[in-house]
Amino acid sequence: HSSVARYFDTMDYGPAPESDTDARQWLARHAEGFGHFIDGRFTDASAGARFDTAEPATGQRLAGIAQGSAQDVDAAVAAARAAQPGWLALGGHGRARHLYALARMVQRHARLLAVVEALDNGKPIRETRDLDVPLVARHFYHHAGWAQLQEREFADQVPLGVVGQIIPWNFPLLMLAWKIAPALALGNTVVLKPAELTPLSALLFAELAAEAGLPPGVLNVVTGDGATGAALVAHEGVDKIAFTGSTDVGRLIREATAGSGKSLTLELGGKSPFIVFDDADIDAAVEGVVDAIWFNQGQVCCAGSRLLLQEGIAADFIERLKRRMQSLRVGSPLDKAIDMGSLIDPTQLERVRTLVATGVREGASCYQSPGALPPGGSFFPPTLLTNVHPASTVATEEIFGPVLVTMTFRTPDEAVALANNTRYGLAASVWSETIGLALGVAPQLQAGVVWVNATNLFDAGVGFGGYRESGYGREGGREGCYEYLKPRAWAERKPRAAAIAANAANAANEASKTQAKPSSVLPPIDRTAKLFVGGKQVRPDGELSHPVFAANGQRVGEVGTGNRKDIRNAVAAARSAAGWSSATPHRRAQALYYLAENLAARADEFAGRIASLTGVGAPAAEAEVDASVSRLFAYGAWADKYEGTVHVPPLRGVALATVEAMGVVGVVCPDEAPLLSFVSLFAPLMAMGNRTVIVPSEKHPLVATDFYQVLETSDLPAGVINLVTGPAAGLVQTLAEHDDVDALWVFGAKALSRNAERLSVGNLKRTLVDHGLATDWHDAASAEGALFLRHATQVKNIWIPYGE
Ligand code: NAI
Repeated sequence: HSSVARYFDTMDYGPAPESDTDARQWLARHAEGFGHFIDGRFTDASAGARFDTAEPATGQRLAGIAQGSAQDVDAAVAAARAAQPGWLALGGHGRARHLYALARMVQRHARLLAVVEALDNGKPIRETRDLDVPLVARHFYHHAGWAQLQEREFADQVPLGVVGQIIPWNFPLLMLAWKIAPALALGNTVVLKPAELTPLSALLFAELAAEAGLPPGVLNVVTGDGATGAALVAHEGVDKIAFTGSTDVGRLIREATAGSGKSLTLELGGKSPFIVFDDADIDAAVEGVVDAIWFNQGQVCCAGSRLLLQEGIAADFIERLKRRMQSLRVGSPLDKAIDMGSLIDPTQLERVRTLVATGVREGASCYQSPGALPPGGSFFPPTLLTNVHPASTVATEEIFGPVLVTMTFRTPDEAVALANNTRYGLAASVWSETIGLALGVAPQLQAGVVWVNATNLFDAGVGFGGYRESGYGREGGREGCYEYLKPRAWAERKPRAAAIAANAANAANEASKTQAKPSSVLPPIDRTAKLFVGGKQVRPDGELSHPVFAANGQRVGEVGTGNRKDIRNAVAAARSAAGWSSATPHRRAQALYYLAENLAARADEFAGRIASLTGVGAPAAEAEVDASVSRLFAYGAWADKYEGTVHVPPLRGVALATVEAMGVVGVVCPDEAPLLSFVSLFAPLMAMGNRTVIVPSEKHPLVATDFYQVLETSDLPAGVINLVTGPAAGLVQTLAEHDDVDALWVFGAKALSRNAERLSVGNLKRTLVDHGLATDWHDAASAEGALFLRHATQVKNIWIPYGE
């Protein structure tokens, strides 16, 4: 009896280990080591270079792994390519059956997968068993549904083809599911490269998938390190790269794929804020912190690693948090009773140690959970740094370990400013019992995911992904599906210039038949058009201008020659027009209709200008003006109709998928159909609340400069649309390199778009380029739908759990 009493006194408890027998037996069956999984079977394990994967918690070797060469990548891509038509031909229902089978397979082997994952990664079995594996199954179920609905819901889209996917070590199996479920569901085939530190669950999954009847070549797994990843990125047979990992490697991949035409999504790092207002449920928030930063040893891209406390509650909060930290247990991953396992490897342990030491050197106070750490392995205790300066290393760098930094704020505005004071923008957590405050702060946070009174919630139906340098693209939900599809119209690429030239020739032909005199209304010669910046016509910084010629070679005027300084001024004007992004959709719709009305009033003038500059006949020029008016109306119509979704994930609550403007967008217009292309590109951006800096057609800039008068009479706030004429190559470079430009659309010459992608790597701008080929900005059928609006926005998911 006394021992029971003592037990209740101390609440000590012994280890409750999960059995690893099945996992060890599986490893024993592969005692000769693992080959790659290509075309439905393992390659020869004894061929080529090899390395070992080890148990982080003990340092002991688990298995021998093949280091993928360029030839291995080649073989895997070839298998994926060969399998893709058949996989697509199965149809949505056929693929749905396969994805459903994968979901069932994950559930059947849940325990084995959970143990292998815990062994190879060092994370607690409690997490792999209760979170990773169930979420993996949920992902395949959800995407089985998208496969089933594909022909109905994505009728205007086609799959990309062969997708290369590169994933990190922190959620090896979950990231596999996030990547392959949507790719396969929508008719692509996959070459997956797992992280070199954690390849086992992917190999086990591939083996089980083949047993479950997944056709050979549909899923290929090539193991290896960064060099293998780089070979996959470089491979010409790959249509898309989807990457999750560090921001540094994300940048390398952006550079390597620039101009290649490969589509790209990047899920990168973060330094996510966890904001607690003084009216929050403090105990719930303390528990939230535990989940935010000590889940998965803090090795979570969206970890709530910056705790921002309202001043009045800070001392009490820290006190309660420290008390809670005393009961956190670090131990063997297979022990069901522990809270935290081992970091991934000694390198990561050393990195975390060094960063904590740096924090202390920079003046922070360090508190750590007491209690002995297990011997061996890469264990590090839950750590709290207080007295942290917002500009210090530990407050700005992603630590990727169980280390929390805290800062305080006074007002909601200060909280937002502090929260957004980072290059990243992956996630944020807001704690307040006042619904108006929490939902008022959420839209102001630069983050792709916001959790209200919660943290680290994930679901297959709710998109996940970052703003800013946390990358681009979304995983999960409908928006995640679009990352594995492309518009049918863009897939059937016809060089647009040729198509337009043919149209123009036809129109001219028609004109010569029906009309005696060509383009009738010629505007007066000899005007020098200025730039349009901050709502005003301004002289270019360099005081230079250059002549513009009509199609017949006649000189018709001069335009300002913009330079870097002009672009910077225009970006500054666009920055300060931030109010446009929060203007109501109704207001934005009104502005677009008004532009349309004012353009229509000058239709003859514009038609004349287009005809004289481009040489098309009057009917074609008039048609272009009409199409432009209609397009402005179309985006006016969309402005208050392209909106978000309410998701109902499997918990009590909702997730609001809201569409937000990206911010300041640079736009470079092509020479074809100079009015229609200009309108088609800026109107969707404007409709969704972006502010733009536009470089109009280099060859026919007068069409855009004539538009100044339309803008001036249309009651548009200053800075929403800015125009800088001049040599596109130089201007696009300044736009691409500018840190205050959030996205860049480049249409026209291939060289321009290649450069735009390469140079935009600095702040990881979202880019939309046409590589000089057809996109469908021209044809109303696709240019007046949701396609450009999707590119003009980013989705923020605001999770709002409710109930007691
Ligand atoms: P990493 O970004 O180097 O590795 C991620 C994946 O990319 C791995 O599969 C790796 O083999 C592959 N890779 C590496 N170099 C490549 C290249 N040049 N081309 C193509 N693929 C390449 O991340 P690592 O080294 O494992 O961790 C370093 C730091 O990155 C961590 O300390 C952490 O701060 C951050 N990280 C962030 C993650 C996130 O989810 N945001 C995940 C993992 C790490």
